[in-house]
Amino acid sequence: MCGIIGINSNKSVSASIINSLKKLEYRGYDSAGIATLHAGSINEVKSEGRVDNLEKNSVVQNMVGTIGIGHVRWATHGLPNSINAHPHSSQNVSVVHNGIIENSTLLKKFLVSKGHKFKSQTDTEVIVHLITENLKTENIINSITKTLKSLHGSFALGIIFKDQPDLIIGARRGSPLAVGYGPNENYLGSDSYALKSMTNKITYLSDGEFCVIKKDHVEFFNEDGIKINKKVLELSSEEEKHDKGDYKHFMAKEIEEQPTTLKNGIKEYVDASNNDINIFNFPWKTNEISSITLIGCGTAYHSCMMAKYWFEELTTLNVNVDIASEFRYRKNRFKKDTLYVFVSQSGETADTYAALSLCKSKEMKTCSVVNVIESSIARDSEFVMPIHCGTEIGVASTKAFLGQILILYILALKLGLLRKDLKRELFNKKLKDLKELPDLVQQTLSIDNKIQTISKTFNDAKGSMFLGRGFSYPIALEGALKLKELSYIHAEGYPAGEMKHGPLALIEEGMPVVVLAPRDDYYKKTISNMQEVIARGAKVLLITNKSKDEIISENIWETIEVETTGADLLPFLLTVPLQKLAYYSALKKGYDIDKPRNLAKSVTVE
Ligand code: G6P
Repeated sequence: MCGIIGINSNKSVSASIINSLKKLEYRGYDSAGIATLHAGSINEVKSEGRVDNLEKNSVVQNMVGTIGIGHVRWATHGLPNSINAHPHSSQNVSVVHNGIIENSTLLKKFLVSKGHKFKSQTDTEVIVHLITENLKTENIINSITKTLKSLHGSFALGIIFKDQPDLIIGARRGSPLAVGYGPNENYLGSDSYALKSMTNKITYLSDGEFCVIKKDHVEFFNEDGIKINKKVLELSSEEEKHDKGDYKHFMAKEIEEQPTTLKNGIKEYVDASNNDINIFNFPWKTNEISSITLIGCGTAYHSCMMAKYWFEELTTLNVNVDIASEFRYRKNRFKKDTLYVFVSQSGETADTYAALSLCKSKEMKTCSVVNVIESSIARDSEFVMPIHCGTEIGVASTKAFLGQILILYILALKLGLLRKDLKRELFNKKLKDLKELPDLVQQTLSIDNKIQTISKTFNDAKGSMFLGRGFSYPIALEGALKLKELSYIHAEGYPAGEMKHGPLALIEEGMPVVVLAPRDDYYKKTISNMQEVIARGAKVLLITNKSKDEIISENIWETIEVETTGADLLPFLLTVPLQKLAYYSALKKGYDIDKPRNLAKSVTVE
């Protein structure tokens, strides 16, 4: 979480820093700050809330200095106010930080005993004072080496010094950090995306490394302060344009873009002329894999859950699913014949990245399904399957979810065919259905009016439930998550068959309950579970697919019928009304749909 930018240039840097901070807001948006060095003194301005607030500050507008650092924050230690906003500075040093310093309390005690005075409640401020303390006896490089060795936890740092007019230090452990190279200026950024408007020449720091950024060159060091050489990568210089077009919010636009997401993914992997799926350069033979473990966080975890049903349906592989923050600390049984699949839109989520690093350290087979192909997870995986959905700006994931599950479905289909778990005719039939899917999603998108009316009931309720069985269960979880994220309404996703083991006690008169009951093998069972909640007073919104058969139930409050396709592809269609329900519910409440409270798009702390 949090975003860092640093620029060392010949010209004034504050406007460029503010521009880059705006791009980094997806990492955190509760406060922002900037520090520049001018005429031997560090000038620092910080503000609560969005970068816009910082930009409007008249001091920032007149800020001079050819070297500076900036930060957007997602609070971990201390309230999201201007005092706790970064940069944090002493007389000599100013620091921006992503990550968490786990031994900050101990370090603070030591520093206070040495006479250092603290202004904020953050863990970051100990770094400032520790460097200041170490500078009393050490040169810059040694003071940085010594400081970094004292820190426990994770960090990406940008540091400037009062008496160093041509120097920014960047350091990385756990949180990603990149260096960019420009004409007569060089940059530091949390990711290449932040730097892209200025350069496409990038070096990524690895864990334990730090760098010294001067205007005309950059040097890299390992954790012992020994100089090392690093490669400069040339990324695509195309910069994507991000605007909402005629939409009120990026989320609305991203929901409508889903047919295109699916078309792009299908075009990339499906060989229409040969009725096949191409996954080029897949590094493993099918007989080398007998099980698959899918790992992710948030919506990406729901994609993994969805994929479990498909891998079990289409292959005979053993399938495990794990939340990255649990996986990384459990005593896992690592097995050579397991393919570990990491699912992440951003490719930077700290827990997912840590789970990947763990698997790599055990020399496991690692594959990632990511949207950002320059990300840490993509770079460090043995094999990458990009989802090609374009930049997703809305914090709550929509098109990336459909993009992820599409790629996972394609992988399951292909492995099923290669392993001979899936007959050719069935494979062909499923491929045909897949090709028709974007149009069906397109048709399902036109349900706005009905959903708008329905969303009012959800807004008036204390809480809600989302139920499903089989293929629909992971979608129920995702639907509940969307409503929580955007409308701040309590919503629980549950397997419909599990209600009687506890959650049924929550049902009271008028409580809105979404029941996902497409006409699949689970239909009759789910309808029975639906009756159980209706009997206890729930207002049921039934989401099913169109069918010639009448719905076998009474007393349903509202029904939405999505288009029809094969049972295993219905989850794509069922997702759409749930995304829209969350959207319209938040819209009615007047909430900030693209940037919900307390959340961030890329979660780079554990
Ligand atoms: C955050 C976002 C979610 C996302 C999750 C995992 O919580 O707000 O929308 O699903 O991180 O992110 P990833 O980039 O790994 O998919």
